[in-house]
Amino acid sequence: MSPKKIDSKKVVSRIFGDTLLGKKKRPGAETIPSLLGYHGKKQTAPKEKLSPISPIRFIWSGWQNEFGGLDMGSDSIKFVLLVQERRRLRLKDLQVEKLIHMDRKAKPEELEKATLDAITKIASRLKPKTKLGISLNDPSLFMDSLTVPRGSEQEVQDIIRRELSEKHLIDPNSSFIDHTTLNGSESSSPTQELLVVAAPRELVYRQFERAQATGFKVLSVETNALACLQALRRIKRWDAKDRVLILDIGAAFSNVSVGIGDRITFNRIIPIAGERWTKAVQETVGCDFEKAEQLKIRYGLKQASPSSQDNVLSGTIPEGTIPEATIPEGEKVSQILMAETEKLLDEVERSFQFALTKETNEEGARLNHVFLMGGGARLLALKEHIEKRWGVPVRQLDLWEGIALDEQTIDREFLNETRDIISVSLGIALRVTEWSVLPFGFGMPA
Ligand SMILES: Nc1ncnc2c1ncn2[C@@H]1O[C@H](COP(=O)(O)OP(=O)(O)OP(=O)(O)O)[C@@H](O)[C@H]1O
Ligand SMILES: [Mg+2]
Repeated sequence: MSPKKIDSKKVVSRIFGDTLLGKKKRPGAETIPSLLGYHGKKQTAPKEKLSPISPIRFIWSGWQNEFGGLDMGSDSIKFVLLVQERRRLRLKDLQVEKLIHMDRKAKPEELEKATLDAITKIASRLKPKTKLGISLNDPSLFMDSLTVPRGSEQEVQDIIRRELSEKHLIDPNSSFIDHTTLNGSESSSPTQELLVVAAPRELVYRQFERAQATGFKVLSVETNALACLQALRRIKRWDAKDRVLILDIGAAFSNVSVGIGDRITFNRIIPIAGERWTKAVQETVGCDFEKAEQLKIRYGLKQASPSSQDNVLSGTIPEGTIPEATIPEGEKVSQILMAETEKLLDEVERSFQFALTKETNEEGARLNHVFLMGGGARLLALKEHIEKRWGVPVRQLDLWEGIALDEQTIDREFLNETRDIISVSLGIALRVTEWSVLPFGFGMPA
């Protein structure tokens, strides 16, 4: 079945109302929730009484306490379907469709077709128009805390738009913008700290179109960062002052989120992840991508001896002292992976130092918790390397903990195999418990 062509702008408008298309917001309409409402208090704007023809009512009809999360990753598409049954959650469906690796030189239409085919396969095993949320994961996303003067909602929105455009070179007219308060509304300070998210409209439309065209009904849009946090917070608690790093290493991107207590204050998407590591192995060993992928998985960082890594890679051993041919394959692979890993970790460290210094006014602030997610984080010995580098325990969690499942239809082994790559899809699907905020999922822009 080939996906239907649709006009994503119309679809977005039909689902969320005209507000998402940049027209004036309905008075009193609540902003944020699904995307940002997780952080402490929801917006306190008075709720508008909905008329029976309101698009929101229209969406609620037929709600069945069943909700899916679709994570359109660059290595695989993940889908989780949860059902809320009285007080417990049940996993009704779990699917992972691996995308065939294509040379990045492949035409964009071919890459897109492969992604659409995979999503179509997932959709074909479900009821038509299954309700779900999708997420955004792209370096063009902006997520950071901004300190702004207090004021009316309109004044705050105007300030955010100005700041984004002047300081961050983000065009507010071509972006969806959303925000939530980070330090509570009761504070007497004349300023307030906000978490602000801005996403290019075209990116939102594209992701919508992918899911809607393949037969799903999209009700919310999240960011990978907040979906991951949602999945994590279901099973894990930490203190309000703890400094937390969540690092999701995928194939194309690594998603870095820094938070204090429950509040994510900074997010950055770095284009260094599993695929780049495989390419580095491919170039070093001189093999094809598939073979390099196997070598990466087999050796990881396991065989990188600290001395050879420091000396050879930094060039302090004169060329020719260790003949290239005498370095065993495993060591060669681990060395190059170590060099690439360090590039990523340097970037991550810069990010969390920046975010924590801004929050705590303390130089060299230390982390209390690091959570690793994504297939790239499976790299052998990465966990130990990070623990040593940052002096903090790295947590490995079972994100499925406490979720019931139908053993007849879902294989325990598959559940186990996927538990580190489903954080985003699970986090989105967890909105099943707070469905009333769904349509406001992403960016009701001013
Ligand atoms: N055992 C392993 N060791 C090292 N890397 C692994 C291992 N297993 C999977 N990977 C890597 O994990 C990556 C895929 O992870 P994941 O499914 O989280 O990515 P994705 O969500 O599809 O991508 P992205 O989030 O970047 O769009 C691939 O690069 C793959 O090579
Ligand atoms: Mg991913």
